[in-house]
Amino acid sequence: MSTKLLVFNWKMNPVGLKEALPLAKISDYKNTVIAPPFPFLREVGKVLKKSKLAAQDLFWENPPAGGAYTGEVSASELRGAGVSYVIVGHSERRSLGETDEIIAKKAKTALASNLIPIICVGESLNEKKAGKKEEVISRQLRIGLSLVGQIADGRIKAKSRPLIIAYEPVWAIGTGDPETPESALEIIRFIKASAKSYLPYIPKVLYGGSVNSKNLGNYIKYKEIDGSLVGGASLNKKEVSRMIKYL
Ligand code: PGA
Repeated sequence: MSTKLLVFNWKMNPVGLKEALPLAKISDYKNTVIAPPFPFLREVGKVLKKSKLAAQDLFWENPPAGGAYTGEVSASELRGAGVSYVIVGHSERRSLGETDEIIAKKAKTALASNLIPIICVGESLNEKKAGKKEEVISRQLRIGLSLVGQIADGRIKAKSRPLIIAYEPVWAIGTGDPETPESALEIIRFIKASAKSYLPYIPKVLYGGSVNSKNLGNYIKYKEIDGSLVGGASLNKKEVSRMIKYL
């Protein structure tokens, strides 16, 4: 049985529930995780039989009785809406000002609330050109995972591996220019080796960035690449039905 995971990140799409529900039904397959915009979570969750639901972000504070944080959504609210995964630190959020420190707090809050964080890391084109790929990713992991250790023992059992990392080179996202499977593999091995310093288990690591039904197989054929975080192609029903055949 395949243990590969496909996470469909819908971003700020589609425009209405009318479009979202048929897409959710097509994407409803074992080992898929669907991340719709917040307003669609509950309705999308209702049509899913096999997929799990993800949110695209969460707030780092989670006071038991709620709180005065206009515009934010808490881990408890997400759990209440049927969410079990949450994307943390996507490069599109980092580009709006999200720092490694904020990402660390969000990852910790997610885990403490029994949400599985999918923590995104990846270098920009300039960083790649400057030969700083490993340096950047090391920093993102070191700071991003720095608070996770505080709750790594006790409730969080190593066996359940409740944290996922997505390697998404910024320059490969939404450009149609993916990282080569071989280079992605190299970095994913590096991420798994580095994660040992912060986690009591080796996390699943996904590749993301211009993945579609034509190239998906070239990544997930490697045992170290545990699946993919897919953006654009996850909005196309034909693409989705082709991609889930790999699971
Ligand atoms: P893409 O997006 O598949 O459209 O490149 C991936 C992502 O942003 O997670």
